[in-house]
Amino acid sequence: MRRKHFGFAAGAIFLTAIFFMTAGSIPAVAGNPWGANYFPNVTLTTQDGKQVHFYDDLLKGKIVVIDMIYTHCVDACPLETARLVQVQKMLGDRVGKNIFFYSISIDPTHDTPKVLREYAAKYHAGPGWTFLTGKKEDIDRVAKKLGLYSEPDPSDRDGHTPSVLIGDEPGGQWIRNSATDNPRFLANMIVGWLDNWKSEQSAKNAQNAQAAATKASYEQAPRIDISDKGRYAFASQCAACHTIGHGDKIGPDLLGVTNVRDHTWLVRFIASPDKLLAEKDPIATALFRKYNEVNMPNTRLTNEDVNELMSFLERQSAAHDKETSETTKSSAVKTESGQPMR
Ligand code: HEC
Repeated sequence: MRRKHFGFAAGAIFLTAIFFMTAGSIPAVAGNPWGANYFPNVTLTTQDGKQVHFYDDLLKGKIVVIDMIYTHCVDACPLETARLVQVQKMLGDRVGKNIFFYSISIDPTHDTPKVLREYAAKYHAGPGWTFLTGKKEDIDRVAKKLGLYSEPDPSDRDGHTPSVLIGDEPGGQWIRNSATDNPRFLANMIVGWLDNWKSEQSAKNAQNAQAAATKASYEQAPRIDISDKGRYAFASQCAACHTIGHGDKIGPDLLGVTNVRDHTWLVRFIASPDKLLAEKDPIATALFRKYNEVNMPNTRLTNEDVNELMSFLERQSAAHDKETSETTKSSAVKTESGQPMR
């Protein structure tokens, strides 16, 4: 059940259902059922060491985007955070003004404000995004109320679902979505909420507008050829951190990587970067240091996914080689030896 879900958009679930499923009884309050009576007003600490009240300071009167993370996670959270960075960029300066991002640590003992500050900087999380730590029991209470709580499960290394909760507190609208979803879809959804909130539509209208925004975001999303599985997997699971030929992002530019690295090494690295790092593989360790110790996530790709990705990376590199050798040939004509310049 806790299997990560990376599909586009299919993960959107109205929280009306989620709250009933995960939170047990909900206080029956007329109007907005999810206000001060519902959310615990516990004290949390920001990455800057400031104490804040969960309901009064973080939620009340705001549009919020909340996820639960832990900074040394090697599973879904690096992708989750990188995705939300993309969403934040798409939302521009609305974040911090009328939309607020919160990432709450589920490992508060390890994730001190300093650790969280460094984590935020590594991923280039912008202003308006607060990273929070606090007492474990308070965080568990918050997570349960948000429907983002996962029981500790020794058989699951990750132990948490990569979900993001998007909420319009004054409007009483909450939706849970896969945090690793298409960022354009998430951004459109959030803007949809914001517009509803501004015009103070009824909950019913808000839901209709929501459905329309979802549909529009599908229609406007850049078309990725789903039959090209490698390209699709790259766009959905790697592009938040990597480009091919457009420079380093959070991770290295992957152009030509299939020429530089050994095939078997690459297959292993893409499938389980965390294992190579744990084994102190020298290349993995050097890369990890070079790229600010950001963990390349293990998203539990299937063998088929890895093969498709490898073939995609090879094709991209070959296309680039062809381009370079053509440029080289034309300039080689001018060399005295007639040898291509390499
Ligand atoms: C959260 C960001 C993130 C995501 C998502 C991500 N990577 Fe990475 N990747 C990195 C970082 C950072 C490194 C550098 C090594 C490290 O820090 O562990 C890296 C390194 C690599 C390398 C080694 C590059 C080299 O020079 O040898 C390959 C190959 C790679 N990633 C492929 C992928 C593929 C394929 C995907 C998608 C399935 C992916 N990555 C998803 C962050 C990411």
